[in-house]
Amino acid sequence: MSEKFLDFLLTRRSIRRFEDKEVLLDLLVKAVDVARFAPSAHNNQPWEFIIVTDKDKLEALSTMYRWARPLKRAKACIAIVTDPELSPRTHLIDGANATMYIWLALHALGLGAVWINALENEEMEKLLKIPENKTLLAILAIGWPAEKPEPRPRKKLEEVAYLEEYGRKLK
Ligand SMILES: Cc1cc2nc3c(=O)[nH]c(=O)nc-3n(C[C@H](O)[C@H](O)[C@H](O)COP(=O)(O)O)c2cc1C
Repeated sequence: MSEKFLDFLLTRRSIRRFEDKEVLLDLLVKAVDVARFAPSAHNNQPWEFIIVTDKDKLEALSTMYRWARPLKRAKACIAIVTDPELSPRTHLIDGANATMYIWLALHALGLGAVWINALENEEMEKLLKIPENKTLLAILAIGWPAEKPEPRPRKKLEEVAYLEEYGRKLK
């Protein structure tokens, strides 16, 4: 079983091409529901989520950032909003945890997604009507996968993992 879970993690990909096939709202809600269980500092849960399925909104969002184009072909997106007042030091970290929970939940449901960076994007904040005191962290573009990308290159284990102290090689 544990091998299966590891394989599940290793098979998640950024999916940027989507089938022209509806994604039921229930599935999106299910993924957001899972995100409520992400870990956060002091269990503050400084997050909120906006599910967007409106085609015009998706299209508009796709033009608001150079790397947001997958939103044009997406059937839905989920915006992750954090609360700097509730967790000044960790809201972005906590929000990233929740974003990954959603991404993995979508993967478990067979849906494809890609993280679109939305930090400090005032145009996106305005379109989504994010209040001034909240932070738009990320947008996950979502749809049924129309591509099966190979894994992106990764640094070698020896380059990033040490034993007992920084810089001491594993072997
Ligand atoms: C914080 C963050 C921001 C990202 N922003 C974008 C983005 O704006 N547009 C995009 O197409 N992909 C974006 N990605 C996806 C990365 O390019 C992708 O995760 C990386 O290339 C590794 O590929 P993989 O997700 O298939 O493993 C982002 C990922 C993260 C974690």
